[in-house]
Amino acid sequence: MPYPESLKKLIEKVEATRPARVERKKNDKEFPPLKLEEREPVLRNFHPDFIEGTRREIKVGPSKGYSISNEVVDILEAKSRMNPDLVNLSEPDFETDVLVIGAGGAGTAAAILAAENGAKVMIATKLRHGDANTMMAEGGIQAADKVGKDSPYYHYLDILGGGHFVNDPELVYTIVQNAPDALRWLEGLGTNFSKFEDGKMKTMHGGGTCRKRMHYAADITGAEIMKTIRDEARNHTDMIDVIEFCPAVEIALDDQGRCVGAVLYNLETAEYLFVKAMAVIMATGGSGRLHIQGFMTTNHYGATADGLVMAYRAGVPISFLHTVQYHPTGVVFPEQAEGILITEKFRGAGANVLNVHGEQFVYEREPRDVEAACIIRECSPKGRGNGVPTPTGKFGVWLDSPMIDMLKGEGTVRKEFPGKHILFRRFGIDISTEPMLIHPTLHYQNGGLDINNQCETNIPGLYAAGEVSAGIHGENRLMGNSLLDVIVFGRIAGTQAAGYIREHDDAGPANLDHVKRYNKEVEAAGIKEDRIAPMILPDYSNPEVREKQLTKDYFGTLS
Ligand code: FUM
Repeated sequence: MPYPESLKKLIEKVEATRPARVERKKNDKEFPPLKLEEREPVLRNFHPDFIEGTRREIKVGPSKGYSISNEVVDILEAKSRMNPDLVNLSEPDFETDVLVIGAGGAGTAAAILAAENGAKVMIATKLRHGDANTMMAEGGIQAADKVGKDSPYYHYLDILGGGHFVNDPELVYTIVQNAPDALRWLEGLGTNFSKFEDGKMKTMHGGGTCRKRMHYAADITGAEIMKTIRDEARNHTDMIDVIEFCPAVEIALDDQGRCVGAVLYNLETAEYLFVKAMAVIMATGGSGRLHIQGFMTTNHYGATADGLVMAYRAGVPISFLHTVQYHPTGVVFPEQAEGILITEKFRGAGANVLNVHGEQFVYEREPRDVEAACIIRECSPKGRGNGVPTPTGKFGVWLDSPMIDMLKGEGTVRKEFPGKHILFRRFGIDISTEPMLIHPTLHYQNGGLDINNQCETNIPGLYAAGEVSAGIHGENRLMGNSLLDVIVFGRIAGTQAAGYIREHDDAGPANLDHVKRYNKEVEAAGIKEDRIAPMILPDYSNPEVREKQLTKDYFGTLS
């Protein structure tokens, strides 16, 4: 749907201020970034993490008492979706050395490295191989590979600063030190990064970075990386099996508490299948489809925190889940594209963020949480009330993409942002001449399962990598560090798991006793609601329809 007349009128205000803003930028006269002490009050008053009543303490499990989003607590304070007494683990349906749960960036990188280190691998995935947040990542991957201009030291400081200085320093050290190698690995496998004519990789800034170290493949970096590593994994036909449409629902432990496999649920046949393994890598990604606080999301359809639930139930503590990342720029109009990511790269390339009057109100490269809070403040009636009203009664602000062509030459938007250019063109909007209407959208699970820098959890034989894990990004991740996270820690998890199985080939009989104990703990805590988890897929059916589906009346009406 093209912009209606009412919005076209408002766009005139953006056009009126554009020449002066472009001129200011050309002369390096940036809108002033907030000082450290100015960030805090905006976050406290307008970031969704601080809204009262949106969190509660978990009543059960290893991190009992930790206060996190209600939606996440709901799935942690739930019983298993299967009856642990009815699944026979003594006759496995499959046997492998390393079971990887999840087939996004982290799972696929882990599988490749485990196989290259001699392990037989099975990847089990809920949907298809590559249906993951990695595939949907747009803007880039950070790596301090420009000797003399940048160093892992600056990258380390940026990650700590963005994460409010509470990150796990060992994990941060590991990610920045391994970043240049991870990039070379991807390039060696054939990832098509954007380059200059002389073959040097193009790089740019992201929010909160002090150096240009964002490497990218136009605005489809995640898809390019995922396609490359998926091909690589699928070429290891002798070592890697992939089983699709079979999400894991519980992990299995042996009598010594070691992880020895997982139960999968076949979405097509509704059967439970047991995969016996000597090590398991949890790489299930994030939780955007929980729609925390009702937010729209950038996440893929299967992002329902299943790995968090399974591992937590088995005894892995969680941290950093008290903060949630809302990406500052998600589509808010046209409605059909609601929630979809508009990469931060637009702001890195110079696009201003503007209110209903066409005025800039925030420096466009603040760290994500600060940028999102400033946009919410601008839109909210309790804030400044300067949001742009959409035809469906929501509010957004403008992201002035046409500035990019004026700053960097005509055709830049089309060339550097083909994914978004094509998407908007379908709706009759040309983003090289018209701005986009955006609002913060639920994007990333900052926290998750506790791991060390070898991706080990506290359960022997259970590893975790990627968005499901915690600590690297502290309380706020910076752009380009999640693609890096999945590659660096995916590779480490695969290598470590392959090493572990060489020394631990004496697994005892598998059991689900921890599931029975957890179910009892939920009952004993007096949790009355009849919730089951993992969720597997979000349910978008209309509540009335959902209700009627359960009644004879509904079927009667149909017949
Ligand atoms: O804005 C983006 O392109 C998102 C990147 C990220 O989350 O790392």
